[in-house]
Amino acid sequence: MVIHKNTDLKTIPTPYYLLDEAAIVSNLKIIKQLCDDSGAKALLALKCFATWGVFDAMKPYLHGTTSSSLNEVRLGKEEFGNSEGKETHAYSVAYSPNEIDEVLTYADKIIFNSLNQLAAFKDKAIAKNIPVGLRLNPKTSNSEFIIADPARPYSRLGEHDLDKITPVLQYITGVMLHNNCENNSFEAFSASLADIEQKFGDIFYQLEWVSLGGGIHFIAPNYPVDKLAKRLKDFSQKYGVQVYLEPGEASIHQGASLVTTVLDTLHNGKPLAVVDASIEAHMLDLLIYRETAPLVAINNTPCKHTQSETDTSTIVYGKSCLAGDIFGEYALNESVKIGDKLAFGNAAGYTMVKKNWFNGVDMPSIVIKRLDGSIDLQQTFGYADYKASLS
Ligand SMILES: Cc1ncc(COP(=O)(O)O)c(C=O)c1O
Repeated sequence: MVIHKNTDLKTIPTPYYLLDEAAIVSNLKIIKQLCDDSGAKALLALKCFATWGVFDAMKPYLHGTTSSSLNEVRLGKEEFGNSEGKETHAYSVAYSPNEIDEVLTYADKIIFNSLNQLAAFKDKAIAKNIPVGLRLNPKTSNSEFIIADPARPYSRLGEHDLDKITPVLQYITGVMLHNNCENNSFEAFSASLADIEQKFGDIFYQLEWVSLGGGIHFIAPNYPVDKLAKRLKDFSQKYGVQVYLEPGEASIHQGASLVTTVLDTLHNGKPLAVVDASIEAHMLDLLIYRETAPLVAINNTPCKHTQSETDTSTIVYGKSCLAGDIFGEYALNESVKIGDKLAFGNAAGYTMVKKNWFNGVDMPSIVIKRLDGSIDLQQTFGYADYKASLS
């Protein structure tokens, strides 16, 4: 839904997420090349990014979507999978009995997280000729953060015991493994895949498809995409399987900024600024992972500022009451003033899907810079949305 097509950015009140289709497409071109060279298929992980207003620009480069819930699989089917030849994969850590029938109306493949879930729901999927998969957990990973580590101790994410998996192979045509997190080392990925092959290789020979999940940061500068393509192609040929990748962050990295206005300035040992958005409500992952939002533009002039703590550096705060609602601390040439516009980068992945109404802070609008450079005001939010979200 577009509220205002072809509008002037200067007329749009902050805060807003500004999506840049060209920046997204430059990631997607790398993904498409990887798929063309390796034979792998790439599915957008909606858990990372589900702003469907840009899906039309993304469709030429991806094979479909994958999901982590009923709502995501429905969105994937409605807004991506409705196009010729696109696939809609369904996965959830746990489906409830009252949602499985609806999930199966949208899914082209369904991946169950556990043997219990497989036993409970496989017959319904097979009766509808929907291929069934199982998530495997290799118990090793490339993840720096324990909170995001699928191989963390006592992980619930997938099955690992070959003795229990082998008897159900008759019901499944494929498996999904996801054990990378922004892994930008081809060597680490390849070694991890070798470990997975050593554990589950015998199973792969009996399957039609293997999804290797997301978290491979092959869009990083100097990543040897050609080596990755060869590794995936060799893997696919060795076991006779269709390889899937589930890129979330890699699809939309640097694809959006959050544009804010400075509402107030204070001084408490250092210069402080308060903007009209909130890290807790609008870029929550930065709070969870204790990272700084890159400051990418001041008053529409592009700049590059990452964390810098000096005696004179400026701390930019969000406007929620959380004491630590901090976008970051930056060494700036000039002090910021009330009314200045600050834009924070990397605002596409795991941001918009997690936004919330904490403190009732105004929800940023969604603005899209189209491939032809025109600006669409895609969506705005107001009091009615806040109120409806609570009861
Ligand atoms: C099963 C699965 N697939 C894909 C992804 C997407 O990962 P990323 O955004 O790091 O590429 C995730 C992220 O948690 C996931 O759990």
